[in-house]
Amino acid sequence: MYSDARASTRTGAPAHTDLAIEAEGLVKRFGDNTAVDHLDLRVPMGGVYSVLGPNGAGKTTAIRMLATLLPIDGGRATVLGHDVAAEPDAVRESVALTGQFASLDEDLTGAENLLLLGRLYGYSRRSARARADQLFAAFGLEDAAGRQVKNYSGGMRRRLDIAASIIVTPRLIFLDEPTTGLDPRSRNQVWDIVRALVAGGTTVLLTTQYLDEADQLAGRIAVIDHGKVIAEGTPGELKASVGSGTLHVRMLDTAHRPQAAQLLRELLAVPVVEESDPFALTARIDDPARVGAALPALHDAGLPIATYALGQPTLDEVFLALTGKPTEPDTPDARPTDQHEETAR
Ligand SMILES: Nc1ncnc2c1ncn2[C@@H]1O[C@H](COP(=O)(O)OP(=O)(O)O)[C@@H](O)[C@H]1O
Ligand SMILES: [Mg+2]
Repeated sequence: MYSDARASTRTGAPAHTDLAIEAEGLVKRFGDNTAVDHLDLRVPMGGVYSVLGPNGAGKTTAIRMLATLLPIDGGRATVLGHDVAAEPDAVRESVALTGQFASLDEDLTGAENLLLLGRLYGYSRRSARARADQLFAAFGLEDAAGRQVKNYSGGMRRRLDIAASIIVTPRLIFLDEPTTGLDPRSRNQVWDIVRALVAGGTTVLLTTQYLDEADQLAGRIAVIDHGKVIAEGTPGELKASVGSGTLHVRMLDTAHRPQAAQLLRELLAVPVVEESDPFALTARIDDPARVGAALPALHDAGLPIATYALGQPTLDEVFLALTGKPTEPDTPDARPTDQHEETAR
């Protein structure tokens, strides 16, 4: 007998049991727009993996290919050990999907939707009802169960989407921008649900445009822009790759700022940015020791400082450093504008 590296593939066992998703060179074109451009992803089993990128970066398109909803134009991917092109049924059986394309019947009540889905998954009427009740309680939707979904607020609707997708506890769930457009309170409720899913053993692939969301929830982050991974790592690694830290200075007087910026450039030997806040200056710091000398020098030059802070860079600054431009969560649906949240419940 000799060992064959491909033996596990032949017997149908996953080749990399430690990876929930492995994508290599994934490509999707829409006409001459390459929405996903040789995307590589290695998502470990367990925990939250975040795909972070601005609107139009290719997040939904990538997820749709991984979930077998969209044919791939190039590259290959396995999900829970199953090839998405060759074994789409096996992939669909083991993953759940929710987000920008979730399909609930708007005219049915929340309870009717979950019951129907439970029956489709093969639950008896009684077990389907028990599971639905359990999910309504877990997601704080008991009072809304009897209401038509079209009358749900954005936050309630988002929670019902997730509940609907986990009627059968999935090993892997795709959450496509589950908090986009939600107010902070609804956003926190969704975060709690994500944490509960992970505690229950589900691997979560979460796309987001919110840097702090990825930072809060994810063990690893892939930053994508124009369909490509431009950085990958833990939140700490991504921050560290940008420099040892960022100096934030607020001047006492806006009139002093241009001169202070110039002096800091000379003393720190790094670029100094004049922020949109007219008092504020920031600089990425390679050598924190220089800061100790630079700040008193500002004071001595008659340019007094109101406050300063030396901190780890934020993920916003990471994105700026990686792409040369800030993230642009400036589309209407990217803002927390879910104003009827309070009145709808
Ligand atoms: N069905 C489609 N037909 C044509 N172009 C599409 C389609 N879906 C997405 N795109 C384009 O592909 C790019 C990536 O879109 P998408 O995956 O939705 O990004 P994200 O989810 O990161 O906002 C965008 O330029 C978008 O306009
Ligand atoms: Mg999207």
